[in-house]
Amino acid sequence: MKAVLLTGGTGFVGGHLAEALVRAGVRPRCLVRPRSSYQPLAALGSDLASGGLDDPESLAKAAQGCEVVYHAAGKTKVRSPREYLQANAEGTARLVSAVEEVSPEATFVYVSSLAAAGPSPEGLPRTEEDPPRPVSLYGKSKLAGEQAVRGSRLKWVIVRPPAVYGPRDTDVFSFFKLASLGLSPVIGGVERSLSLIHVMDLAQGLILAAKAKPGSVYYLCDPRPYPLDEVMAAIAGVLGKKLRRVSVPYGVVRPAAWLSEGWARLTAKPVIFSRDKLREMEQAHWTCSPAKAEAELGFSAAYPLARGVEQTAAWYKAHGWL
Ligand SMILES: NC(=O)c1ccc[n+]([C@@H]2O[C@H](COP(=O)([O-])OP(=O)(O)OC[C@H]3O[C@@H](n4cnc5c(N)ncnc54)[C@H](OP(=O)(O)O)[C@@H]3O)[C@@H](O)[C@H]2O)c1
Repeated sequence: MKAVLLTGGTGFVGGHLAEALVRAGVRPRCLVRPRSSYQPLAALGSDLASGGLDDPESLAKAAQGCEVVYHAAGKTKVRSPREYLQANAEGTARLVSAVEEVSPEATFVYVSSLAAAGPSPEGLPRTEEDPPRPVSLYGKSKLAGEQAVRGSRLKWVIVRPPAVYGPRDTDVFSFFKLASLGLSPVIGGVERSLSLIHVMDLAQGLILAAKAKPGSVYYLCDPRPYPLDEVMAAIAGVLGKKLRRVSVPYGVVRPAAWLSEGWARLTAKPVIFSRDKLREMEQAHWTCSPAKAEAELGFSAAYPLARGVEQTAAWYKAHGWL
């Protein structure tokens, strides 16, 4: 059994990866911050290593003797834009240095994001050959994290997931919430398309990525990009709701982003909807192709949209979210 270090195990993606690793017979060592909710990881039988991306000593201790590192810790919502760089770029660079120092032979799998690459032209899902052009500070911080990984002497693999959904997710959950209210928003009058991946498929893909040729980058997603309308219709279908398209002009969305940032400053909570998220929302198409991962890793999405939405809606219902 390989010695595995996992960061971000208390989060959505990392939590599912921890479960998938345990199902595969691997007992990951999970880096956890002292104040995070690590009980589910302990209950899984993971080893816990106390520390954080801002504490190099804790990282060196956690990475000691590791053969594979899955780096799924990161910030997707922040109180101030600086936090993106601190966690996603500087934190990743610190982890990379610690692993180089204590476990230089380790394979390092970095959970990046489609946001690091940027949006796609209409009808042309992004491939690994396309040069990255991130539009948001979040995307730029994830690309800076990628650069820290690429610049290392480790055997690295970078995975760029698009929007991830599934049990426990709170982001794509807003689509489920809107559909449960019978609403399908059309923001800025734009027809949109996106790639998606169910979190359990992502976890399987990350496990496969650890065996990839070092120096590889992969998009992992459902092979079909979907018009947003189709995603909303699939969710509404599972929830037994009829949808009404509601036009939301940018003139309403922009002030909402300002207000949301102001509210977050007042309450000292991470911003849910920010001007940075708006920069991403102003792009109509966020699609990518998993063809390289399918060919080289044998990756295959077990949860295409219909099945994934059904499983996720069932979880939300069972847990009283919907
Ligand atoms: N969800 C998506 O749709 C999506 C799509 C593409 C890429 N990604 C990437 O996937 C990764 C995980 O995202 P997620 O959705 O699972 O986010 P999440 O639920 O917010 O989890 C973030 C994880 O990172 C940890 N973390 C944050 N800052 C840390 C620090 N300074 N030191 C140690 N741990 C720290 C958190 O620990 P605490 O519990 O202590 O806060 C938590 O375990 C991120 O890197 C994100 O960029 C996510």
